[in-house]
Amino acid sequence: MKKIDLLIHSAEQLVTCAGPDGPKRGAAMRDVGIIPHGALAVSGGEIVAVGETADLRARFSAAETIDASGKVVCPGFVDAHTHVVYAGDRIDEFEMRIRGAEYMDIMAAGGGIAATMKAVRAAGLEQLVAESRARLDAMLRLGTTTVEIKTGYGLDTAGELKMLRAIETLADTHPADIVPTFLGAHAAPPEFKGRTDDYILLVIDEMLPAVAKWYQNSKFKIQNSKLFCDVFCEAGVFDAGQTRRVLEAGARYGLTPKLHADEFETLGGVSLAVELGAASVDHLDVTPAAEIAALAQFATVGVVIPAVNFNLGSTHFADARAIIDAGAALALATDINPGSAPCPSMPLVMAIATRYQRLLPAEALNAATLNAAHAVGLGDRLGSLESGKQADALILRANDYRHPAYQFGQNLVKTVLKRGRIVV
Ligand code: NIG
Ligand code: FE
Repeated sequence: MKKIDLLIHSAEQLVTCAGPDGPKRGAAMRDVGIIPHGALAVSGGEIVAVGETADLRARFSAAETIDASGKVVCPGFVDAHTHVVYAGDRIDEFEMRIRGAEYMDIMAAGGGIAATMKAVRAAGLEQLVAESRARLDAMLRLGTTTVEIKTGYGLDTAGELKMLRAIETLADTHPADIVPTFLGAHAAPPEFKGRTDDYILLVIDEMLPAVAKWYQNSKFKIQNSKLFCDVFCEAGVFDAGQTRRVLEAGARYGLTPKLHADEFETLGGVSLAVELGAASVDHLDVTPAAEIAALAQFATVGVVIPAVNFNLGSTHFADARAIIDAGAALALATDINPGSAPCPSMPLVMAIATRYQRLLPAEALNAATLNAAHAVGLGDRLGSLESGKQADALILRANDYRHPAYQFGQNLVKTVLKRGRIVV
């Protein structure tokens, strides 16, 4: 019998989310790969085997065992789009919106992203890390084991580098895997009001070289993990031409493109994303059918973020149903940020997606795990329970994988396993 570190056994449902190479598409999204009475064998932080309990018990002798009787074991959630590093809050804007103000109007009036920029510029690195760590802890307790994190609240070279250092410190000290994204082009800061093209030049000529230099000496480079480059492509923020200039310049420095597209208005961001070979194109709230059809022809993952619509009190959601049915790769994310989505919870995102976007619970789970891992370039290592992948798994206080989407408003995550170690 082979000796291993850990055997989780007797799960009511062992849900693998395993699929063929690449993200799941179309009908494959409805299959989460259930093994009844399943078990997970773990050694050295990796998954050694997945199968039926009787079979794995006969093959392995484990130093530690966990009885998951009556429970679901599934992959840890991957949150593919976040702005979780920030300081302060925007609770006053929340109340302004309840009274009728619109998100984009608050931004145009100097609030929104610029308000958080002021708080982030004023915060020391330690404070920024401490405030963000508390949110990452909450996300981990809700089952999120991998988090993409964007900059974009510094909006000058020093501020953006401070955010990258905060992201790196968190990656060093928090159990979650962290994927960094440079979002210098999140908004033009107040000192560039009316001079957006000049700000784009600053992003390209000053920030990108500094960011590329930081990356060369960062733990991300050493670990061989990618650095992404993102732009908020939106009416009144950055147009398609400006977005292209930043992403093409980023690519020259080795940064992989991603973009915010079609959150409020359509500017052709999806076409641009597939043309540039973006890893993902995110939001897609108002994407026309022709662009959804185009997306389906490419590897670029479409990330939808229904927590934003919910938070803004909107009943209009991205047409995630059409995205899946067209054959495009779909992932879910929280977008956790102080303005449009102060939400750490992937289970809540699945709950909203099942109701308002008509995803089946299986589609929502695949979108929150394997496909989300592909959206951040880690699909070959994370996102499903398969032999050889990293042992990032959840034990749910539930006997059916559909419960986290079904029972909203409570945390069904009992145990979180990260690289084979119990962290919650
Ligand atoms: O994804 N869209 C741009 N960025 C965020 C909002 C950030 C903020 O409001 O602070 C988003 O919705
Ligand atoms: Fe965002």
